[in-house]
Amino acid sequence: MQSQDLSNYRKSYEKHELLEDNCPEEPIELFRDWFLVADESETVDEANAMTISTIGLDGFPKNRVVLLKKYTYEGFVFYTNYNSEKGKAIAENNNVCLSFFWAGLERQIIIKGKVEKIAENLSDGYFESRPDGSKIGAWASNQSEVVSSRKELDNRLKQLEKEFENKEILRPKHWGGFMVKPISFEFWQGRPNRMHDRIRYTLNEDFSWKMDRLAP
Ligand SMILES: Cc1cc2nc3c(=O)[nH]c(=O)nc-3n(C[C@H](O)[C@H](O)[C@H](O)COP(=O)(O)O)c2cc1C
Repeated sequence: MQSQDLSNYRKSYEKHELLEDNCPEEPIELFRDWFLVADESETVDEANAMTISTIGLDGFPKNRVVLLKKYTYEGFVFYTNYNSEKGKAIAENNNVCLSFFWAGLERQIIIKGKVEKIAENLSDGYFESRPDGSKIGAWASNQSEVVSSRKELDNRLKQLEKEFENKEILRPKHWGGFMVKPISFEFWQGRPNRMHDRIRYTLNEDFSWKMDRLAP
């Protein structure tokens, strides 16, 4: 394949600005404002899709997308398989980074934090709310393990569908929620001439937030 030159891909960001006057003391409130705009925007599909990066057991960072299921002043919750590659990485090192990129709004948010498993009863509650197909899927997939073929997966699903027929499907212990408790937030708003707005909040020891503008 010939080299593919993308050097002419260039866009001027002109839709919004982010000024200190519009930044609340609590960054989660700015997150909420931006999230609500993204959620309403026709330019954004799955506003709650976020990238989470972990430091893997092999020493490399790895990013992948998961769905944000809840956010509060305390943190950001997503659900996954605790035995997956990310689950194992987190067990070893719980420093993670979340990011959202809403291209249509020319906005990015980057959140660093410490991640912890949520209480079992909260995972039970969320699992219970899922459709049966997703519940069985959680049992059927040893997330991140090598499988021999698509057929193996399909057969495993069929077998479990039979086993669970007319039975209550309880949460597998290896599946549940994690909460990312933020230590910093960075809000990026694209601006013309690459002079973007970047506002970073850093958590102080007394749990207040320090706000800084960063050079683009
Ligand atoms: C839009 C989207 C949403 C996803 N949501 C989740 C999710 O909520 N939980 C999850 O475990 N994986 C989710 N995935 C799959 C992950 O990106 C990833 O493939 C999986 O978690 C295994 O990652 P790991 O092997 O690094 O642990 C999603 C993928 C996409 C593209």
